[in-house]
Amino acid sequence: MTTGTSSSTPMNPPPALPGKVALRMRGISKSFGSVKALTDVDLDLVEGEVVALVGDNGAGKSTLVKILAGVHPQDAGEIELDGHIVSIPDPRTSIALGIATVFQDLALCENLDVVGNLFLGREMSPRRLDEISMEVRSWELLKQLSARLPTVRIPVSSLSGGQRQTVAIARSLLGQPKVILLDEPTAALGVAQTAEVLDLIERLRENGLAVMMISHNMEDVTAVADRVVVLRLGRNNGVFDINDVSSHDVVAAITGASDNEVTRRAGRHSRNLSVDSEEELDS
Ligand SMILES: Nc1ncnc2c1ncn2[C@@H]1O[C@H](COP(=O)(O)OP(=O)(O)OP(=O)(O)O)[C@@H](O)[C@H]1O
Ligand SMILES: [Mg+2]
Repeated sequence: MTTGTSSSTPMNPPPALPGKVALRMRGISKSFGSVKALTDVDLDLVEGEVVALVGDNGAGKSTLVKILAGVHPQDAGEIELDGHIVSIPDPRTSIALGIATVFQDLALCENLDVVGNLFLGREMSPRRLDEISMEVRSWELLKQLSARLPTVRIPVSSLSGGQRQTVAIARSLLGQPKVILLDEPTAALGVAQTAEVLDLIERLRENGLAVMMISHNMEDVTAVADRVVVLRLGRNNGVFDINDVSSHDVVAAITGASDNEVTRRAGRHSRNLSVDSEEELDS
């Protein structure tokens, strides 16, 4: 079981935050017509920390990210950055406020090379592209992430899934953000590529960013997250310190059940579970 200091449920207080709060959301609600995607959601992101945002399909995870990315405005609630209340009416404002978002589809241009993708839309010189400066900056960024790419002059279409994810993350870092939001960064990746992306997430934490990663994979969550925030049916359903919680308890918070087929299976395979995989749910 979780304890009062390691988790928050409707009954328990949340764990103490481990550092300086970079971003705070309070009472966030969002409806799409009659669908209540989010109701009264709170979230804190702390500098130098990785938060895993988990929840079943339709729990509201992407909606929360899109509110921070300036894609949808919230209907109610406040967002605070560095102690100041902000409104995020559009993606440009989100980036200007120091929030970087890497969406699941990555939105890279297949035919452009790595440098072209990194600087798409923000070429350094307004009149003439300064190719050398952009290439140098590209290498600096990738080095900062300890990323392994053969060359920055390779078209993105020739890169592996993990390398593409690296390029998308590197691109989001160009604005020198304080907060980075990653929607399912490992969903489409194999074992080695997943390890590469998880390493990269650790580099982001070491660089002092407040990192939030959406994931359905408990193995990835336990590998890199410091805290786990659970959404269920658009509401908060627990905040857990990763050191004090089992996968079983996280899955129970995700499903809202303390004893059902999914949580029993989680108990047996506590370190390798994808809660929304059909195999887990159907068998
Ligand atoms: N643009 C939209 N218009 C209408 N309904 C939407 C829209 N975006 C999300 N929703 C609804 O809001 C709810 C939350 O969706 P959201 O995409 O945030 O869930 P999620 O937790 O990211 O799920 P998944 O794990 O499947 O990605 C769902 O019921 C979804 O159908
Ligand atoms: Mg989603």
